[in-house]
Amino acid sequence: MLFQNAFLENASTQVSFRVQDGRFSEIDPDLVPLSGEETVDLGGKLVLPPFVESHVHLDTCLTAGDPVWNMSGTLFEGIECWSKRKDKLSREDIRERVNRAVRMYAANGVQFIRTHVDVTDPKLTAMQALIELREELRDVMEIQIVAFPQEGILSYPNGKELLTEAVKMGADCVGAIPHFEFTREYSVESLNFAMELAAKYDKLVDVHCDEIDDEASRGLETLAARALEMQMFDKVTASHTTAMHSYNNAYVLRLMRLLKMSKINFVANPLVNTHLQGRVDTYPKRRGITRVKELTAEGINVSFGHDDIFDPWYPMGNGSLRDVVFMGLHVCQMMGYEDIMNSYHFITDNAAKTLHLGDRYGIAEGRPASFIVLDAKNYYDALNQNAAVLASYKEGRKIAEAIPAVRRTLF
Ligand code: FE2
Repeated sequence: MLFQNAFLENASTQVSFRVQDGRFSEIDPDLVPLSGEETVDLGGKLVLPPFVESHVHLDTCLTAGDPVWNMSGTLFEGIECWSKRKDKLSREDIRERVNRAVRMYAANGVQFIRTHVDVTDPKLTAMQALIELREELRDVMEIQIVAFPQEGILSYPNGKELLTEAVKMGADCVGAIPHFEFTREYSVESLNFAMELAAKYDKLVDVHCDEIDDEASRGLETLAARALEMQMFDKVTASHTTAMHSYNNAYVLRLMRLLKMSKINFVANPLVNTHLQGRVDTYPKRRGITRVKELTAEGINVSFGHDDIFDPWYPMGNGSLRDVVFMGLHVCQMMGYEDIMNSYHFITDNAAKTLHLGDRYGIAEGRPASFIVLDAKNYYDALNQNAAVLASYKEGRKIAEAIPAVRRTLF
C-alpha cells in the first residue's frame, strides 16, 4: 500500500511511503504506485509516529464521582474518595474501565501505554486484571505495567512481598514511592529494594519520585546514584519529581551532574501536578512541575504523561495527550516557536525511549508501519487547533479514524 503526500514530522516538503507486510518498506518523495497497488492520498497532512502514554494509572481511571466527587480537588480528599471506591474494585470493574480508556486513547492516536498499577492490595486484583488485558489488547495497544506500591514498600504491611509477587506475576517495571514512606531511612531502603528487585528479574524501573512540594524530599539523588552504580542507566525512570521545583538552585546545580551521569529518564505530568501541587501554599503558589526546560537543555530525556484520567485525583481527561503537551508548554514556559514545533517529542520519541521501544518504534524503512495522520500540516497547527487524529495505523493496519467536525460561522 502506498501513502502519498505526507509531511513527515517537521519536514518542509512532502513525501510518500510504502507499507509492505506491516512495515515501512520505502520512504521517498518520488514513489509511484506499483501495478494494482492500493494508494492513499494523505493530502499534505502531518504524519507522526504514534503517541506514547508514558505515565498513567489505568486501574483508577474513569471513576470520578463514583461514589463521591472530590469537592476540594486535593490529593488527600482524592485518597478518601478512592478508599470508598476501592470497596467495589473487582476484576470485571477494572476490565470494563480499562477497555473504555484504551479505546479513548486509541482514538487519540496512542498505541503504547505505560500504566502504574497499585500493588498495595493483598489480593493484587488490579495487577491480575491488567496482565490479562495486556495480552488481550496487544494487537491494538501495547501496555507496559509498573508494579506500583501506592502506599509504600516499607510502610505497608508485606509491601516487599507484594511488590515481589507482582514482579513474578509479570510486571514489566518495578515502582516505588519514596516520598510517601514513613521515614527518610525507609525512603532510601525502599529505593534500594526496588532497584535490586529490578536487577534480579531484569525489569525496568519507574519510581513515583518526590511528588510533593517538600524541598527536603530527595529520593531522586538516591535513585540516580543507584542507576549509575548498578549501571542500569536509562532502564530507570523518575516520574513526577515535583519537589525539584522547590529545590534551591545550588543543590540543583550539583544534582544535575549526577542526573546526566546516571542517564535516567524523567516523566512530567503537567495536567495533574498543576492541579495538585502548591495546595498548602498561600501566595505565591508554586506550580510544582519538575524542571522540564532545564533537564531538556542538559540533554536529559523527558516525556509527558496524563497520569490520571477522570478519577478521584483528576476530574478531567479524554485520552488526548494533546492537552498534556498544551498544559506542559504553558506551565514550563516553553512557548518559543521551536519549543512548540518540537513539543510532540514529549509524547512520541522521548516517551518511546523511556519505554525502551527501541527499533520497534519510529518512522524509518524496515520498522513496523505504525503511524498517525493529523488534520494539520505541522505540529504547531495541530497543537494550536487541537487537530483530530484522522487515522491511526498499527503495523500497517488501521485501528482508529476520525471525521473532523465542521464548524461554520453564519454571518
Ligand atoms: Fe502517577
